[in-house]
Amino acid sequence: MKRTFIADALNAALPSQDITVCGWVRTRRDAKGFSFVELNDGSCLAGMQCIVDEGTPAFEALGAANTGAALCVRGELVTSPGKGQKWEIRAREITVYGLADPESFPLQKKRHSDEFLRGIAHLRPRTNKYGAAFRIRSEAAFAVHEYFHRERFALVHTPVLTGSDCEGAGEMFRATALAPGETDFSRDFFGRPAQLTVSGQLEAEALATALGRVYSFGPTFRAENSNTPRHAAEFWMIEPEMAFADLNDLMALAEELTRFVVDHVLTQCAADLRLFDSFVDKGLIDRLKAMVSEPFARVSYREAVEILQKCGRDFVYPVSFGTDLQTEHERYLAEEHFGRPVMVHDYPKAIKAFYMRANDDGETVAAVDMLVPRIGELIGGSQREERLDVLTARVQELGQNPESYWWYLDLRRFGTVPHAGFGLGFERLIMMLTGIANIRDVLPFPRTPGSLEF
Ligand code: 4AD
Ligand code: MG
Repeated sequence: MKRTFIADALNAALPSQDITVCGWVRTRRDAKGFSFVELNDGSCLAGMQCIVDEGTPAFEALGAANTGAALCVRGELVTSPGKGQKWEIRAREITVYGLADPESFPLQKKRHSDEFLRGIAHLRPRTNKYGAAFRIRSEAAFAVHEYFHRERFALVHTPVLTGSDCEGAGEMFRATALAPGETDFSRDFFGRPAQLTVSGQLEAEALATALGRVYSFGPTFRAENSNTPRHAAEFWMIEPEMAFADLNDLMALAEELTRFVVDHVLTQCAADLRLFDSFVDKGLIDRLKAMVSEPFARVSYREAVEILQKCGRDFVYPVSFGTDLQTEHERYLAEEHFGRPVMVHDYPKAIKAFYMRANDDGETVAAVDMLVPRIGELIGGSQREERLDVLTARVQELGQNPESYWWYLDLRRFGTVPHAGFGLGFERLIMMLTGIANIRDVLPFPRTPGSLEF
């Protein structure tokens, strides 16, 4: 069967043609002599109105099909005399594939709460809001690939199963093939403990020092038991890594990539964004447009701490040089002080990971976090320590055995080069693009503490 997607039918404006559209009934209204069926096929926010005349075979085939039913309608695309849509289909043939019992189908035509919809994650993509969110997610992912492809970054696939903790935070999910209760990892599948990766960075560095510029875009896992609207146990990260690059190159990349994706979504997902602008986050579109046209702010961690100390705010967590910035601080900086995304750079080394390049002041490392309004940290990255002696000393200082980093240190032994990379949390990007405030609502099937139903 040759089917036409509603997105194409509405754009192409091909009246007086027979087309077939397939989707799920959003509403059905029966009038005198005919029925209106509004069909949505997921290709766009808008549905297609279908007119089914009583006494026709199509009407017969439609039968009792109502909200939630899956069907295909074949008929002529004509200009609609009714309000609200330009085109409609005069049904000639209808095939009903599956009915939905109106007594038990949970998605009736009314607004449901986000909490209720999380409980039916398998059906919520059929609502306007979640359909729009997942289309935007798809377009944003496509834009990421397009940007990196254009900029000569090679896409690399880094392992999901790993033996090392890149971030050193120890928040990992163990992966084992041992029977429950067995603890001798030498008898486990890999002969050693294994985990789900928290980041593909270390492997991406190896590939960047061969291919020049690479990026990975894959799932990462963190067993941090922080039940916040911004943390998921399984989330997708975009991790570019560039050889022959320093912190400034990295900040330029972070800004350009973010802007490219925002711009792409503004042009490709206009109708979906209008839904979020009207019902979820008023002013969203204007804020996204401003991101595309105005440069992001930059401030050193030291300056950021001064701003926070002088701003007269009563933060739950006090700040001073050496403390990690909390979400309340990050949001104050991005939302109120700068009113746009801000890149905070050169953090104290004590609060950052072992691989970040030491600055000459002996106190800070060449790290950068990009903070955005309403979310806080969207991107975290750094220039990497490329000096073998400095990196080895740092590993030892942290009480680790350099031997276990042998291959990572090899990259500094053989043809070492200044290089830099970051991780961008894809879900947080989608939160920024849609105004959705909870990470559970931008992941189709979120994994958070205590939640693994679907
Ligand atoms: O700042 P993070 O921990 O950086 C790294 O993992 C580096 N190894 C990345 C690199 O340099 N290649 O994580 C990067 C980003 C954060 O800025 C945040 O947007 C997101 O990943 N993130 C999470 N998103 C959702 N849920 C979580 N639990 C997250 N933890 C981090
Ligand atoms: Mg971080």
